[in-house]
Amino acid sequence: MPTTKTFVTHLECSVTGDRYAADELHNLSAAGKPLLARYDLDALARSVNKQMLQSRPPELWRYREFLPIRQAHDIVRLGEVMTPILASPYLQRRLGMSSVMIKDEGRLPTGSFKARGVAVAVSMAKALGVTRMAMPTNGNAGAALAAYGSRAGIESYIFCPDDTPQINVNEINFQGAHVWKVNGLINDCGRIVADGKAAMNWFDVSTLKEPYRIEGKKTMGLELAEQLNWQLPDVILYPTGGGTGLIGMWKAFAELEAIGWIGPKRPRMVAVQASGCAPIVKAFNEGQSHAELWQNAHTQAAGIRVPAAIGDFLILDAVRQSGGFACAVDDEAILEMQAQVTRQDGLLLCPEGAATAAALAQEVATGRISKDERVLLFNCASGLKYPMPTNDRYLDIGQPIDFAQLQQQAAGSAR
Ligand SMILES: Cc1ncc(COP(=O)(O)O)c(C=O)c1O
Repeated sequence: MPTTKTFVTHLECSVTGDRYAADELHNLSAAGKPLLARYDLDALARSVNKQMLQSRPPELWRYREFLPIRQAHDIVRLGEVMTPILASPYLQRRLGMSSVMIKDEGRLPTGSFKARGVAVAVSMAKALGVTRMAMPTNGNAGAALAAYGSRAGIESYIFCPDDTPQINVNEINFQGAHVWKVNGLINDCGRIVADGKAAMNWFDVSTLKEPYRIEGKKTMGLELAEQLNWQLPDVILYPTGGGTGLIGMWKAFAELEAIGWIGPKRPRMVAVQASGCAPIVKAFNEGQSHAELWQNAHTQAAGIRVPAAIGDFLILDAVRQSGGFACAVDDEAILEMQAQVTRQDGLLLCPEGAATAAALAQEVATGRISKDERVLLFNCASGLKYPMPTNDRYLDIGQPIDFAQLQQQAAGSAR
């Protein structure tokens, strides 16, 4: 049977450091905290080098030694491409900066970076014999679970807040999962998943309540390091909900340093939230190590509307250790940035991605980010999955086309 040459050794409680077996099903540790996968990094470093990566296909599985899957036949694939890092000439002009880059995760299967975490989690669930999974979602993770679950032949139950973008709900349903809208927030949906465990016998794949979504998200850090020729940016701005991506990238950088592929220099990690739901920002500003439940959470950036994150302490640790910070932006600034970057750079950002651009503008103005820093923003999903302004101009081919009027209308919508 073909193996994938993983170097995973065990799982470790992120608080107590207690060890758990790697090849068994786990949710949280006995202490109720996330479990992190650990690897024999010395053996990994002897087995693979930077040059070897270059001959592999441009996909997430090129980092297989850093991932936990043992048997190649357990890998569930939908085409997990490497996502491009693109300059933003518009933001560079507007902010007077020389290097603003956007990593566009909207190119992944199901249109968001959730594919990374879910591809790895579902592959492991398949390897460990799971037949039914459940998840709370703000939309994108559920869409990914539906697709990967169907592909793997594993049944999925998905619960989302009732104002989740309808396209996500339709997509989840159409891709073969069972989905319900719930008159609550994502933490209320999470409670349904936890409460239903005994009656429904499903495996809880909530963010950080199973150990492998973070391993998939870790590939964002490995990938961006490789794409930037192992020279990490000065600052990374990440739209933070549950924070898996930020924690995953931080873990990637630690593993890369341990095997000698990068040095000790780290990007300053900036956790970006919306002013209507900013528990991590509040905890950061107050010097707390855990965040409080955010009341009346609201923002149009659905993916970052997470009032309580189980990995809050891991997000705050990473941000602080990196010398970064957490900041919040208003929906108005988010939507203005989304419109501008989309129109001027030809990059259809999702609102969460636009939040990182709005945060950059805000923090260049406050001086917390300087204009000469090399900055990387994350656009975590395709803007195609969100509501857009509509256009219903129409031409009747039965009538002569009035090009003067056409020109006038075009001028009316010019940038
Ligand atoms: C588009 C988008 N951006 C950001 C996030 C937040 O991701 P994380 O849970 O890694 O903080 C989500 C999560 O749903 C999302 O869908």
